[in-house]
Amino acid sequence: METNCPTIFTIFGATGDLTQRKLLPALYFLESQRELDGQFRILCVARRQVSEEGFRKEAAASVRKYSRIKVNDELLEKFLGRISYAPFHFSKEEDYALLKERLECMAGTHCPSIDRIFYLAIPSELIGTVVQGMEKASLTKQAQGGGYTRVVFEKPFGSDLRSAKRLNRTILSVFDESQIYRIDHYLAKELVQNLLVMRFGNSIFEPLWNKRYIDHIQITVAETIGVENRAHYYDTAGSLRDVVQNHIMQLLCLVAMASPKTLNAEDIRNEKVKILTRIARSKDMLSYSVKGQYASGEIEGKELPAYRQEKDIFRSSLTDTYFAMKLFIRNRLWRGVPFYVRTGKRLKDRATEIVLVYKQPESRLFKERGLELESNLLFIRVQPDEGITLQFNAKVPGNKVLIEPVDMDFCHECKFGPNSPESYERLLHDVMHGDQTLFTRWDEVEHSWKIIDRIAKPWKNRQPHLYEAGTWGPKEADELIGQDGRKWINPSKPGYVALLGR
Ligand code: BG6
Repeated sequence: METNCPTIFTIFGATGDLTQRKLLPALYFLESQRELDGQFRILCVARRQVSEEGFRKEAAASVRKYSRIKVNDELLEKFLGRISYAPFHFSKEEDYALLKERLECMAGTHCPSIDRIFYLAIPSELIGTVVQGMEKASLTKQAQGGGYTRVVFEKPFGSDLRSAKRLNRTILSVFDESQIYRIDHYLAKELVQNLLVMRFGNSIFEPLWNKRYIDHIQITVAETIGVENRAHYYDTAGSLRDVVQNHIMQLLCLVAMASPKTLNAEDIRNEKVKILTRIARSKDMLSYSVKGQYASGEIEGKELPAYRQEKDIFRSSLTDTYFAMKLFIRNRLWRGVPFYVRTGKRLKDRATEIVLVYKQPESRLFKERGLELESNLLFIRVQPDEGITLQFNAKVPGNKVLIEPVDMDFCHECKFGPNSPESYERLLHDVMHGDQTLFTRWDEVEHSWKIIDRIAKPWKNRQPHLYEAGTWGPKEADELIGQDGRKWINPSKPGYVALLGR
């Protein structure tokens, strides 16, 4: 490829929420980091008829509203200058031909082959139509002479194993796996990326990271928001498909997998797939699952409606807005260790946390004195207040031996500052650099669906357990873990939050 030939980043579905909230602000951030070279162009297409100027105004407003860095007027002007807009009908063949012409025109006659990234920020049911349209217009092949063509898209990758396979077949019939970037934005969260370093880069953690020392592991992805304006998608998906199939399964894999041979994308993905296949063999998943749905309630003093009262939601909807499950990984490392996972909307707090609960200390030394010892806990706080806390037992000052759990904290922001890249900033950067490590491979998606299907299908017509908005979910989830003599460890503010002045 000639130097001075542009990279063109095409966004399908550019007037939608994802583009406006995430993609444009993330691209603006990359602009501020000088990651977009002089020739980088952003071609936005969507169904809406709006002029290029009108679209740029909307883009500017979105960047100003959602950028996590302070917006500089001059830089924003430069960024907007890279953006073009064209109305586009996804089902019209001629629009793909026009798109191709437009890309060629943007490239200029001196650039026969350019780098092309296509971001499909569109509902999953349109993906098949779009990739086929692209193929007919010869937009999918790697360009002869060096330029690359990459396609990026997001979940939902189908709604069950069958539809996911169908979608994958369609995509693979026109793209090669090496061109495909399937986003799971959780993989780009700093503390999630840190898991590999923490586990395999420290001799104090990995030897204790197995069934011999760990009693059980909890993973919580809790949100305070409700369905918002996504009723159409969410009411057919529910929490199991929306969060468990992807984000929670990925967290679980990274917590449980064995050390990969290298840090290459393929080696890491191979280890993750091994975990997913072992989970899929778990028995009783269905009877260890709890389906919940939020009723009305109050969060931070605000009265909130029940899920079934939300705009565009069926009054008799059976959709799960909460899900909890106990599962096992049938391998040498984890046999017999329960993993309790849960996610929900309209819960008491927003927090994603992984907690390793260690076995009770065996020493009789303190028990003989009637002293109770707490289990050691290792908290990995993915968000907010990113960090790691190790809770262990210590002596309380004084003449008597009294024991109390204390915390040893790593506060990510205190050490590294508040400027860690946001997920989409990192992911878009990686797509441009051809690094697939933080993206999911097809077999990860496939095995994950095998697990989810075993629950989602028989569950379809089951009534969800209602829980009051602003609580930690239905009582049945407490019973699920309570039957084993354990309880959920609800997220709480770590001590270092005070240092951050929050
Ligand atoms: C998305 C889900 O994948 O993740 C949303 O579709 C959810 O329903 C979101 O709110 C949570 O992401 P984050 O980064 O805010 O934890």
